[in-house]
Formats: sequence, structure tokens, C-alpha cells
Amino acid sequence: MTDITVKVAGLELKNPIIAGSSGLTETVEGVKTLETAGAAAVVLKSLFEEQIMNDVYETIGAAQRMFLHPELSDYVKYFEEKDAVAKYLDLIKKAKAAVTIPVIASINCGSFDKWVEFASEIEKAGADALEINYYHLPSDPTVTEQAYLATAMNIAKEVKKYISIPFTMKLGYYSDTLAKDLLTISRTDISGLVLFNRPFYPDIDINAEKIISGYPYSTADEISNSLRWIAILSDFAETDLIAATGVHDGKGIIKQILAGAKAVQMTSSIYLNSSSVIKKSLVELTDWMEKKGYKKLDDFRGKLSRKDNSIYDRVQFLKRGKEE
Ligand SMILES: Cc1cc2nc3c(=O)[nH]c(=O)nc-3n(C[C@H](O)[C@H](O)[C@H](O)COP(=O)(O)O)c2cc1C
Repeated sequence: MTDITVKVAGLELKNPIIAGSSGLTETVEGVKTLETAGAAAVVLKSLFEEQIMNDVYETIGAAQRMFLHPELSDYVKYFEEKDAVAKYLDLIKKAKAAVTIPVIASINCGSFDKWVEFASEIEKAGADALEINYYHLPSDPTVTEQAYLATAMNIAKEVKKYISIPFTMKLGYYSDTLAKDLLTISRTDISGLVLFNRPFYPDIDINAEKIISGYPYSTADEISNSLRWIAILSDFAETDLIAATGVHDGKGIIKQILAGAKAVQMTSSIYLNSSSVIKKSLVELTDWMEKKGYKKLDDFRGKLSRKDNSIYDRVQFLKRGKEE
């Protein structure tokens, strides 16, 4: 009998597929659908502090148009935030009541104190775990990489002081010192690293000459970047690694586990192929394991990590044939 259960980031999962944070997980119905489809856990849509602030600016804008006093701002912010957080906590409670799989909440904040405040509220609402959605684009030439790393470390340290549920960090890959940064972050009290988040990409509509949102979904080819870094990190990271971006099917799951991942997150593939892709991927995984004679995921986890495969460090294309 093939065993595809996994202990990852403080959770016991019936299989290695976690439905990633997205619009698919922002309602109780969505969460139920993913459980029925076979997902082992879900990450709820993130609670974004930036979204709350955008709503505040919209409300204040409307208020000003109605000739109300601009000093309403603090008042509006307080109530807007309270309302958004209350709705999110309600989603956690209702999702927990509706499904038996672990429910992982997700937050993304701009101001330091909000990470801790939201995390504490989320634990009280009953989430099984928390994903810290900490994304960073190094677009400010005055900010050093050390500042980014220090902030991530401080968030991990502070959040740990206030909550006892497991929490992971979902990061991006923009850093000159990525291996060192990820190793350093893996040594904090986090339960796992989710590598990587896929950024929002801007695009330009050349007819309207307007900036628009780029295509939001990954392709299966995009697996290569997280595959490389999971393989590199799995030999020395001091926390569990969860692969994200470009995992579209069973093959993607097998590749990531061979590289060293404990579990994977899937999002785009569920949008593009419907939630039935989860069961199909699990069948693909177990069929492959049976064919290869593997009884459990640990039997092949990390078999193709970087340890004996320096090819993961290669960025140049050498003469064809030589690299194969
Ligand atoms: C429509 C959409 C909404 C998303 N919303 C969130 C979000 O709220 N929080 C988050 O951490 N990631 C969010 N993501 C990113 C996904 O969780 C995931 O990390 C990314 O899509 C890469 O994985 P994939 O290749 O399986 O899609 C979103 C992705 C999509 C396509």
C-alpha cells in the first residue's frame, strides 16, 4: 500500500497537495470544494493590510466628495480595519467548522505591528497554521538587502512571541544573497518556507496606453525556478520546504519531492483545470510510486537534491550534448 501522508510544517497531511492562497480559498464554499477534490490543506486568501488601506482611501475619498472633514481618516481606518479583520476571522471560524483538513490563514502587512496583531487574532479564531506572505521587490535603490532580511527575521521573531500555532513564510526570489537569506530565515522559529510566491506582473495595453494587470496564472514550465531552489536549499535548510509556483500535475509534485520538498502548493492549475486536477495528480503520484517501488514519500524525497547534482548551479547553456 502506497503511503502519501506527510508531516510538514507542524501539520499532518493526508497527501502532499496544499491548495495555495487565492480567490479559490476566500469563501467557505471554495474551501469545501477543495477538500472534496482531495486537497490535504488549504491556505486562505491573504488578509492584506494594503487592501484595507486602499478601502480606507476610497471611503475617505467618497467622504471628502460629500464635504465631510478630512480628519475622519483615523476614524475610518479604525473601523475599516476592524471590519476587514472581523470578516477574515469569521471566514476562518466558518471554514474550520465546515472541513476537517487543516485551514491555514495568510497575512500580508505593510506596518510591523500589524503582522503580530493579525497573527494573534488569527490564532484565537482557530486557524491550524499561519502563512506569512512576505513579498519584496527590491525596487528601492536606497534599501539594502540586509534591511529586507532583517525585517523578515524580525517578523518571524515577533510573531513567534505571540502565537503557538505553526507558521511558515512564503517568500519571493529577488535577492543577490538568496541562499544565505533563506538559510538564515530557516534558522528562525518558523515551521516551513514556501518557495516561491509568484508576483503580480504588470503589462501595458498599447492601444489604450494604460498599465494593466498581466496574466495571473503560472504555466507548468515555471516550475524550474522553485525546483532549482528547493534542490539547493533542501540540503541545508533547517526547516521544511514547501514548493510553490508551476506545480500543475502529478509530475510536478514528483519533481519537487525528488528535489527535496516536503509538500507542494497548487493554485493556477486548479484555476485552469478545475479542482479535479488534485485527484488526477494524486493518482499520477501513486501510480508512479508503485511503478518505481516506492512505499512512502520519504523513499525518494531529496534523491535529486543538489548534493550530487551541481547542475542546479548552472546558469549558462554549454555546448549541446555536454550537459546531458
Ligand atoms: C488569482 C490569484 C490570487 C492569488 N492571491 C494570493 C493571495 O491572496 N495570497 C498569496 O500569498 N498568494 C496569492 N496568489 C499566489 C498563489 O498562492 C501562488 O503562490 C502562485 O499563483 C504560484 O503558484 P501556482 O503556480 O500554483 O499558481 C494568488 C494567485 C492567483 C492566481
